[in-house]
Amino acid sequence: MCGVVGYIGKNDAVPILINGLSKLEYRGYDSAGVAVFDEEQKKINLCKTKGRIQNLQDKLYMSPLKGKVGIGHTRWATHGVPSDRNAHPHFSDDSKIAVVHNGIIENYMSLKEELEEKGYNFISETDTETVAHLIDYYYKSGMDILDAVFKVLERIEGSYALGILCRDFPDRIIATRKDSPLVVGIGKNENFIASDMPAILNYTRDVYLIDDNEVAVLTADSIKILNSDKDEVEKKIFKVDWDIEAAEKSGYDHFMLKEIHEQPKVVRDNLNSRLTDEGVVLDNICLGKAELEKINRIYIVACGTAYYAGLVGKYLIERVVRIPVNSEFASEFRYKEPLIDDKTLMIVVSQSGETADTIAAMRLAKEKGARTFGIVNAVGSSIAREADDVLYTLAGPEIAVASTKAFTAQVVSMYLITCHIALELGKMTKDEFLKIKEHMELLPSLVNSILTKEPALKRFMHKYIGSKNVFYIGRGLDYVVSMEGSLKLKEIAYLHSEPYAAGELKHGPIALIEESTLVIGIVTQEELFDKTVSNIRECKARGAKVLAIAMEGNTEILKYADDVFYIPRTYWMLTPLLANIPQQLFAYYMALGLGNDVDKPRNLAKSVTVE
Ligand code: G6P
Repeated sequence: MCGVVGYIGKNDAVPILINGLSKLEYRGYDSAGVAVFDEEQKKINLCKTKGRIQNLQDKLYMSPLKGKVGIGHTRWATHGVPSDRNAHPHFSDDSKIAVVHNGIIENYMSLKEELEEKGYNFISETDTETVAHLIDYYYKSGMDILDAVFKVLERIEGSYALGILCRDFPDRIIATRKDSPLVVGIGKNENFIASDMPAILNYTRDVYLIDDNEVAVLTADSIKILNSDKDEVEKKIFKVDWDIEAAEKSGYDHFMLKEIHEQPKVVRDNLNSRLTDEGVVLDNICLGKAELEKINRIYIVACGTAYYAGLVGKYLIERVVRIPVNSEFASEFRYKEPLIDDKTLMIVVSQSGETADTIAAMRLAKEKGARTFGIVNAVGSSIAREADDVLYTLAGPEIAVASTKAFTAQVVSMYLITCHIALELGKMTKDEFLKIKEHMELLPSLVNSILTKEPALKRFMHKYIGSKNVFYIGRGLDYVVSMEGSLKLKEIAYLHSEPYAAGELKHGPIALIEESTLVIGIVTQEELFDKTVSNIRECKARGAKVLAIAMEGNTEILKYADDVFYIPRTYWMLTPLLANIPQQLFAYYMALGLGNDVDKPRNLAKSVTVE
């Protein structure tokens, strides 16, 4: 969840570290810091502070650090409150070793006790500080610095991406990872480390993707990567082909708004090369009739927004293909002793490809013989590398913490997978497919037409901003859409909201409905319309205000709702994608109206690399 960067080269390190950190701020933003090796003073200097990168810049402005080798960090607190003291980098006792860390050292308590007995003083409440002291301990007991790092890796448990400086070796950065992302950027007379590629895209597009337990040693003009046996490994250079623009705001007030507006293109990119008159081409994935016939159970596992995209997949695959699909939160999956064997297909959905719970669930399924299929946005991420097959969601980098375009792309993947499996298993005729394909091809322009109605959502914000509670209700696919809508509102508007299966309201939650309650009723599934409308009327009768999302042409709903947002008519399967767009904009404007930081909501992080 935290962001790690490092620079070694001929240039001033601080501006490069700050630039990198600003690109990683989406990973965590409660404190930030840098450590830079000062050649004249022959020591490592630290500057760190609670708060955003801007606070760090202000502090650096008052007391600048100079040097050409440095590491930096932006934090999402796990151990200890956000504070100057707990901010990274952390020093060993006599400031010989400096460490930045993303992840959690699970056995830090016992290591801390051991180190305290040896006389080490702990300044922070973090788990990370144990790593700095432990390296120092082994180094001072006579080991070479690299051996000391390897020794520490044997001792620590948990997840980590580490950037390490040692005062005695001003010409190198040591970096390593396990279950937390880390890349090494390859420059000319300069090299970089980073948790994620945007941090170094201004400087290089050539990277090494570091694997678990590998240790990288960087100097200004060399990069050595060692495996856990300390043997040098030959790694392939990975070329990042995104446009740097993709990670910029390009004139929009917020990344979230920009990403919402990119959705027509994202949908088009995801469909373009994959829809043919013959069927669906799932990139290079070999999941044909023979493989699919062996499968008797599908799991779709993910976290957060990606989980809701997976849920769309469950509803569709079960309804169209008639195979049982279990959709599970990755954080719960492992504790249910899931029924997995070699007849299981495990679909994992993740924007970042680095979510710790999702990775762990995928590894468990793999271990038990399942075939794993990743739906991933971040190219080269852990899930993309470890899954048997990968379908990339081609959304480009998503920077706003609240996911929008990645969700839309994941839902498109669910449409493609459903059609593919159904065609292969003879559960959908060619004519049916061609009809759906025609509708799918219209999606980019339909999304566009929804975006032109953005002012209506701003108006609704002004009208409903005083709501104390918000219920999102729907049935069937509309219920799934309501879950994502409610999550978005919680995430960025900090408003209490709950999604509820419309029919379940009267079994308890209706007791909470009062005049200050807003009910967002999703009624795009026409065969369920009358039933959901009854539930909407029950809410109205108890004083709630109702904002409905309905298909164009449905005038009936005007009788029961205070306001209606119409989405264009489409095939039943495709409504979740369209109905969600106004929900994104509604959450966006509510967050703005309430004065919140839309792109960096409190307490959250974009990439959740701890369990
Ligand atoms: C965090 C993010 C969400 C995201 C979820 C899963 O909670 O804030 O936007 O949906 O993690 O992330 P993933 O990268 O696995 O899709």
